[in-house]
Amino acid sequence: MGGAPVEAAAVAGALAMVRRVRPSLVTRMTKKRVAVLISGRGSNMSALIEAAKAQDYPAEIVLVVSNRPDASGLARARETGIATALIDHRPFGEDREAFERALDAALAAHRIDIVCLAGFMRLLTPWFVTRWSGRMLNIHPALLPQFKGLHTHRRALEAGVTRHGATVHFVGAEMDSGPIVAQDWVPVLEGDTEATLAERVLQVEHRLYPRALRLVAEGRATLLAPEQP
Ligand code: GRF
Repeated sequence: MGGAPVEAAAVAGALAMVRRVRPSLVTRMTKKRVAVLISGRGSNMSALIEAAKAQDYPAEIVLVVSNRPDASGLARARETGIATALIDHRPFGEDREAFERALDAALAAHRIDIVCLAGFMRLLTPWFVTRWSGRMLNIHPALLPQFKGLHTHRRALEAGVTRHGATVHFVGAEMDSGPIVAQDWVPVLEGDTEATLAERVLQVEHRLYPRALRLVAEGRATLLAPEQP
């Protein structure tokens, strides 16, 4: 009997420790490590960084990579304290795969689970796409499969569509292709210009990408048959 209170205290202490330690351990163990790849202003990158600050968000942005030294998003990422890498594609010339091997090495060094392309203006080779199949997302400013490629807002206006929007998809071998994870739309309004429509779509993008990444990071959206290396 004499030892009982001590035991109880020890148990209570142990439980208290477990309670204190466990949530952060779980969080650390299960959060997916994400790299965001940019070439420009990086507003979608910022939206992802902001969303990932929430404690219950299943992913953390641990790396931002730019292929352009002048990408304004790169400076913004540096200010946040997130690790950044500049991998300039130009010294690699025509050798896209050599550039991607450097990129892949940076992703490996940071133990990346998921890659998010966010205004990353490089066509990717089948090697890289296959390597990251099912683990790489892209955001496109149109309701895919409509308006693949550039100048989507101008083309949407020219086509006279009444709805336009954004898509997050797993990256497939063809440009702006691959299974869709999430889409959202906005109305095209009378008198819209390319700029006003782009701005309306961008607001949607900033909500959509964090939602889509959450689905993938939680394993609620998966690619059933990822391409095999
Ligand atoms: C976004 O419209 C995105 O959908 C497209 O490129 C643009 C990048 O903008 N892929 P930002 O750099 O995220 O501000």
